Order: sequence, then C-alpha cells, then structure tokens
Amino acid sequence: MKSPDLAVHWGPLRLSNPLVLSSGTHGMGEDGPRLFPPEILGAIVSKTVTVDPREGNPPPRVAETPCGMLNSIGLPNPGIDAYERDVHPRLVSLGVPVIVSIAGFTRDEYRTLAARVDRLESVAGIEVNVSCPNVERGGMVAGASPGETLAVLEAVTGETDRAVVAKLTPNVTDIVEIGQAAMEGGARMLSVINTLVGMSVDVDRRCSNLGVMTGGLSGPAIHPVGLANLWKLAKATGAPVLGGGGVVSAEGALAYLIAGASAVGIGTATFVDPFAPVHILEGIADYLERHEFASVTEVIGSLAETQADLSFPEEAC
Ligand SMILES: Cc1cc2nc3c(=O)[nH]c(=O)nc-3n(C[C@H](O)[C@H](O)[C@H](O)COP(=O)(O)O)c2cc1C
Repeated sequence: MKSPDLAVHWGPLRLSNPLVLSSGTHGMGEDGPRLFPPEILGAIVSKTVTVDPREGNPPPRVAETPCGMLNSIGLPNPGIDAYERDVHPRLVSLGVPVIVSIAGFTRDEYRTLAARVDRLESVAGIEVNVSCPNVERGGMVAGASPGETLAVLEAVTGETDRAVVAKLTPNVTDIVEIGQAAMEGGARMLSVINTLVGMSVDVDRRCSNLGVMTGGLSGPAIHPVGLANLWKLAKATGAPVLGGGGVVSAEGALAYLIAGASAVGIGTATFVDPFAPVHILEGIADYLERHEFASVTEVIGSLAETQADLSFPEEAC
C-alpha cells in the first residue's frame, strides 16, 4: 500500500505535514531542530519577537508540575533588529516554512512589527501573540477582549498581505468570541492554545517556585483544555485552526486533528524528548496506515458527534 499523504492546508499555507514547532519552545532555532532533520516539520514558529530587546523575567523562570511545567520566561528576545539580522536567516536556513511570532505592548508596536516582518523574505506567515499586556490599557491582555483583539488584528493586517495567524490565550471566558473578533480583524487562521495561568509553591521555603509568582502552564496537563478550545473554535468559526497544548504523542496530535485542527502545535514535548516530533509523525503515519486512510486530511474534523444539538452544552455545574 502507498504511504499515506501527510500534507495539510492550514488556511493559505500548504504544509508537508501537520506538525508545527510552537513559539518559544525551541529558543531562536539554535538547538532544537538541529537534533532532527528539520524537514520533518510542517512549519516552525519563531520565538515571539518584540520591537525592543527584552531580557525577560528574573529567575527562576521554569518549574516542573505534575504532568506539566510552568514558565515565567517573560518574552526574552533580541528585538526586531537582531531578529531580522541574525535569527530570521538562521530559521529560514532550516528549509521549513517560517512563521514569525510578534507581540506589541501597544497597537502601534504591532503595526511596526507587522511592517518590519512584511518586508522580510521567506516568511510563510505572521503569528500575532495577543497574550501581551497592553500598556495603554492598564496592562490588559489584548487577547482577553474581543474589541482589543479586533483592533490589534486590524493594526497588523493593515500593514501586510502575509497570512496572519491569531494565537489565542485560553485565559478567557469565551474563546469563540475572541476568535471571531480576530477573524473579523483580518486573521486568516487561528492558533490555540497559549499557556494557562498557573502557580506552584515550595512549601518548605513558603514561596512561589517562580521568580514572578505566577506563570504559564504547558505540557500534558493542558491537553484536554486545548482540545476543548480547539473544537469549540473550529466548529463555531469555521476558521482554519492550529490545535496545540500538551501534545506528547501521536494520539495527542490525532485527537486535535480529529476534533477539527488543520495542523498541530508541538512545544513542551521537546523539553522531555527532543525527538518528539519524529516519534509523533511516525505514529501518525502508522495510525493512518492501520486505519487505511490515504491522507491525513481524511481524519481532520472526523469526530463523531452524537448529540443532535451541539450548541456547547454547559459544563457540569
Ligand atoms: C518556555 C516556553 C516559552 C514560550 N514562549 C512563547 C512565546 O514566546 N510566544 C508564544 O506565543 N507562545 C510561547 N509559549 C507557548 C507555546 O508556544 C505553546 O502555545 C504552549 O506551551 C502550549 O503548548 P505545549 O503544551 O505543547 O507546550 C511558550 C511556552 C513555553 C513552555
């Protein structure tokens, strides 16, 4: 039997397979992808870049939790000038579609970053990280408000014709409302989920395990949350959505695809197993062969929904 076709479309992007290396989980591309042939990835998302260089938060910035990890990295990055000069060429040399992640602390900064990335060569897309506090709005995270999400996406898409992805935070009441606002603002694709706010305490020292008290939870613990957010968003908006959060196995990736994801993000898994993308991709191919699917696209959105009315029943209360 012919090997199954692993190629997918995520909005306007054609990826050789559904695996996308998530922002911030491979540094600036120096290490991770060197461990395995980068071409086994469908795409790579850069660490989020800001206008000015940032050192990030004081240590400790990472803490392990049951089935996950907390980070309070705080967007350390060299800023857009050094990104353009040093980082982008390195990512492009991997030979994989590069999506550049940007975050601004004001709408103007988003505009500036979009214009700067727009003029770079070999950019497959721009991922807009809306989890950044807006200093003009009292530190409110843009992605927590549909109005601000709309404004940020309009600011970005006004500066570029590149494929724009809105990467959403799960730390909201209704992610569907935010996703709809992002699409209205000109996003072509969505991506879920960024990390969940979390905290852990060292009981002997009676202090937080992180230097800035709280951080973002990632890893297997958040897989069910990411999956529910992905399913709701894909179903309600019809947008091409990348699903991620907690994928450490082929089954975890397939669950996102079956629930309607166009592509799958891999992040924290690579901290535990640097070869995770290789194993996950092999597992997906093996699953497709076993179930006699000719293409991974046959699996996308194939979730059986037995309830007649799926208007998102209230969670048990
Ligand atoms: C150490 C670390 C740094 C991260 N940095 C970024 C970042 O710069 N921009 C961003 O959009 N997401 C960032 N993320 C979030 C990941 O891209 C991903 O959305 C999240 O970790 C959930 O996926 P996972 O459980 O597979 O890691 C970071 C995550 C970790 C663990």
